[in-house]
Amino acid sequence: MSKESSLLELIDTVLANDEVILPVFDHTALRVQQEVSKEEPNINDIEKLINCDPALTTKVLSVANSAFYKGLEGANTIRRAILRMGVNEVANLVILVSQRRNFHSDDPALAKIMEQLWQHSVGCATGAHWLAKQCGFLSTLHEAFTAALLHDIGKLFLLTAIGEVKKQQGPSIKIPDALISEVLDNFHCSYGYNLMLQWNLPQIYAEVARDHHIDNFDHKNFLLIMVRLADKACHKLGIGFHRNPDIVLKGAPEAGLLNISEINLAKLEILLEDSLGLSC
Ligand SMILES: [Fe+2]
Ligand SMILES: [Fe+2]
Repeated sequence: MSKESSLLELIDTVLANDEVILPVFDHTALRVQQEVSKEEPNINDIEKLINCDPALTTKVLSVANSAFYKGLEGANTIRRAILRMGVNEVANLVILVSQRRNFHSDDPALAKIMEQLWQHSVGCATGAHWLAKQCGFLSTLHEAFTAALLHDIGKLFLLTAIGEVKKQQGPSIKIPDALISEVLDNFHCSYGYNLMLQWNLPQIYAEVARDHHIDNFDHKNFLLIMVRLADKACHKLGIGFHRNPDIVLKGAPEAGLLNISEINLAKLEILLEDSLGLSC
């Protein structure tokens, strides 16, 4: 049996025995997400939902006032943040902050990988959101951000399960980083897709998690295309686990499908480098 399939078997065993506390999609974030997806979201309801979670509220306001949102200082209540930033942007922050809670591990090696994964997820979310704006998909700004933030959720899922495997096996088990990386790369799409279905998130997000690496992807699914391009840009810049400076974004089929200019691709790269400053 290969090392990869034996690790996968251990992962599946802890999952089958319900021995892992899996990443969750925060209840408040889910309700906010459902409300902003409506044609006419109720701002009062969104405000109330967020305010019911004081820890979430504090974090959302601190990110809203951070250096990344330059010029937005003074948004000291959720209502003010909504008025200044818009309801979609605040909903993005709610998902960002609530997802951040999932990216923790007691195992230092896994915690380090999760940190890189978090940087990658935020980079992709920022990039896909910008692409949606730039390419005129204004009604899908929130979807682009969410889909990209969650596209690699299968990796988080697998890392969480690997954490449990390590805990159960004790110090006797040594899992090389290269093996973890191989398992994450090869299996995160299918595990991510299933997790999305379990979370009852809209199918559009599950499809992005499933199809963001396949060659034969849907050329009409612009949400998927934007996430794929943002993902490639992050890989080019080394935002995440991999760095491949040889990627030519202009030559990517996704850039052609979005009809995006070389200048805008360069702007995307600058934006992504800046997104590394977005902490929460
Ligand atoms: Fe991926
Ligand atoms: Fe990715």
